[in-house]
This record gives sequence, structure tokens and C-alpha cells, in this order.
Amino acid sequence: MEKVMVIGAGQMGAGIAQVFATSGFDVLLHDTSGAQLEKGVAGIQSRLSRQVEKGRMTEQEKEAALSRLEKAAGIEAANSVDLVVEAVVENMEVKSDIFKKLDAITPAHTILASNTSSLPITEIAAVTHRPEKVIGMHFMNPVPVMKLVEVIRGLATSDDTYEKVKAFAERLGKTAVEVNDFPGFVSNRVLMPMINEAIYCVYEGVATPEAIDEVMKLGMNHPMGPLTLADFIGLDTCLYIMEVLHEGFGDDKYRPCPLLRKYVKAGWLGKKSGKGFYDYN
Ligand code: CAA
Ligand code: NAD
Repeated sequence: MEKVMVIGAGQMGAGIAQVFATSGFDVLLHDTSGAQLEKGVAGIQSRLSRQVEKGRMTEQEKEAALSRLEKAAGIEAANSVDLVVEAVVENMEVKSDIFKKLDAITPAHTILASNTSSLPITEIAAVTHRPEKVIGMHFMNPVPVMKLVEVIRGLATSDDTYEKVKAFAERLGKTAVEVNDFPGFVSNRVLMPMINEAIYCVYEGVATPEAIDEVMKLGMNHPMGPLTLADFIGLDTCLYIMEVLHEGFGDDKYRPCPLLRKYVKAGWLGKKSGKGFYDYN
């Protein structure tokens, strides 16, 4: 795998493209929003400049990484790549539509991966004619920092595809952990109910967001409290994940907190929108 494409230049897609480029791969980055594509590339440039300032990367290494990164105006550019990682909004219809297009555009050998947080890989794979080459490649946020890639095998994912993706993740300096395809996989099945419960604590007036975060930071040694983390992930993404768990297991223990729904309806999406449980303006 030498040439890769990332679809979606939001916080995850831009982070994934950055890691690909700094690991020596040619990477195409595409987003339907031109503004978001520009913002994603600008973010990569500024993070790499910071690495140079800190003496962790030379100016030449930064320029080399940036020269491997190319903006793609359309999804058709996927016709020349070996691997695609899709990182668009957590919505099955949008992802299905992209995978159908990718199946038609890409060469037969191309592996199609999704960075979905919770949606079934088996269902995404079923819209293509190559379900054996479809896999979950779930990076963690912030991608350049976090070591894990949760690799999710759909029902039809082949051993060959899994081994190639695992080896690729290792070339990025990440550790791949194999997980089967169930709602939320492992990461978000465990993490998101904790975040949702922290939101219930706010909703029920148990404590303030600051107090809840202090309890989890000082009491459990979490690097960020759950509400700061929810704002960091994006409250829309948190809600979509809870809905997938609720629907996928049919169990009310996964019901999203009404306060989370209210914030998302208000456009309070956390750090990316400037307001969530905390104010970022
Ligand atoms: N992008 C790139 N690098 C970032 C970054 C970002 N958004 N945010 C912080 N960093 C880097 C900093 O540049 C710094 O690197 P250097 O040491 O090279 O300077 C390093 O991370 C540490 O940053 P800080 O000192 O500013 O802050 P910190 O020590 O508090 O660490 C953190 C920041 C790494 C984000 C830490 O708070 C943390 O680990 N938080 C929890 C993150 C987490 O749980 N992520 C998983 C979310 S769930 C998920 O991703 C799955 C899903 O499907 C929702
Ligand atoms: P985001 O809102 O920051 O970015 C999503 C991007 O997708 C936007 O730039 C949007 O313009 C673009 N987009 C929407 N439809 C598109 C299409 N049809 N074609 C191309 N681009 C399109 O979201 P994010 O936080 O980067 O999350 C992206 C994916 O990664 C989601 O599936 C999410 O569940 C998953 N994920 C998120 C996190 C996290 O902490 N935020 C962690 C791991 C995985």
C-alpha cells in the first residue's frame, strides 16, 4: 500500500491524513466542503510547524510530508489508490453512498476502510461487490497522538485484508487491536455509556460539569474529564454513537441523555462549534 486516500477532512480525516503523510505515504484528502478541506490542510500545516518548533521534526521533513499531501476536489481521484479511509459524518446513509461510489471508482485490489465509531462494518461492506476488502480502521482522537487503531472485521472481511491493514497500521507507528463487528465495537461500547452517564449527572443536577470532570480526572486518573472529552469528540458524534448502541442492542440502558439531544439540536457540538458543556470562544 503506497497511495492512500482519506474522505472527510474534519478533525479525524485531517489527523489521519497527517499521520499517513508523515509516515511516508502519498495521500489524497477529499471533502465535499471546500472550506473544510482548506481548514483541514491548514490544521496539518500548523501542527507540523509546531513539531518543527519543538525540534521533533526538521523543516525538510515537514516540507516532504506536505509535498506528499494532495487536495482532491472530487471522490473520482480514488481511481489510483490502494487504500481509502472514509472519515465523514457518523451516518449510515452518507457512508453507504460513499462506499457504493468507491466500489465503482477504485481498482479491484483497493481496500476500503471506514473510521466509523460505531456503525456496522458488515452493513457498509454489503453495499459493495467486495465485502472481503471492507474493514473498520478506527483511529482515536487526536490521531497523531493516540497509539490505538481498533481494526474491525466485518462478517466477510478476509484474513488477507485484515493482515494488510494491521501491517499498514504498524507502519504508521500504531498498534492494531482486532475486534469483531458489534455496535460500538469495544472502544465506544465501553467509553460512550460512561460519557452519557456523566451527561445524566449534569441533567439531574448531581454536580456541575467542572465537578464531574474533576472527579474523573483526580479520582480515576483520566487525562480529560468525560464532559471535556465529549466536547472534544463532538456532541453530535457522541449522540450518533449512543443511538447506534441503543438501536443495535435494543436495550434502554443505552438511551441517549435528553440533555445531549438538546445540545445537539441547539448546535452546541462542543469544541468544533465553540460551545458544548464548556465555552471555547
Ligand atoms: N492534534 C494533534 N496533537 C495534539 C492535539 C490534537 N488535537 N491535542 C494535543 N496534541 C498533542 C500536543 O501537541 C502535545 O504533543 P507534544 O508533547 O508533542 O507537544 C501532546 O498532544 C500533549 O498535549 P498537551 O500537553 O497540550 O495536553 P495533554 O497532556 O492534556 O494531552 C491529550 C492532550 C493527548 C488530548 C490528552 O488530554 C488525552 O489523552 N485525552 C484523552 C483523549 C482520548 O480519550 N481520546 C479518545 C477519544 S474517543 C475516540 O477517539 C473514539 C471515538 O470513536 C469517539
Ligand atoms: P467532523 O464533523 O469533524 O468531520 C466530518 C467531515 O466530513 C466534514 O468536514 C464534512 O464536510 C465531511 N463530509 C460530510 N459528508 C461528506 C461526503 N459525502 N464526502 C466527503 N466529505 C464529507 O467529524 P469527525 O469527528 O472527524 O468524525 C468523522 C468520522 O470519524 C465519524 O464517523 C466519527 O464517528 C468518526 N470518529 C470520530 C472520532 C472523534 O473523536 N471525533 C473518533 C474516532 C472516530
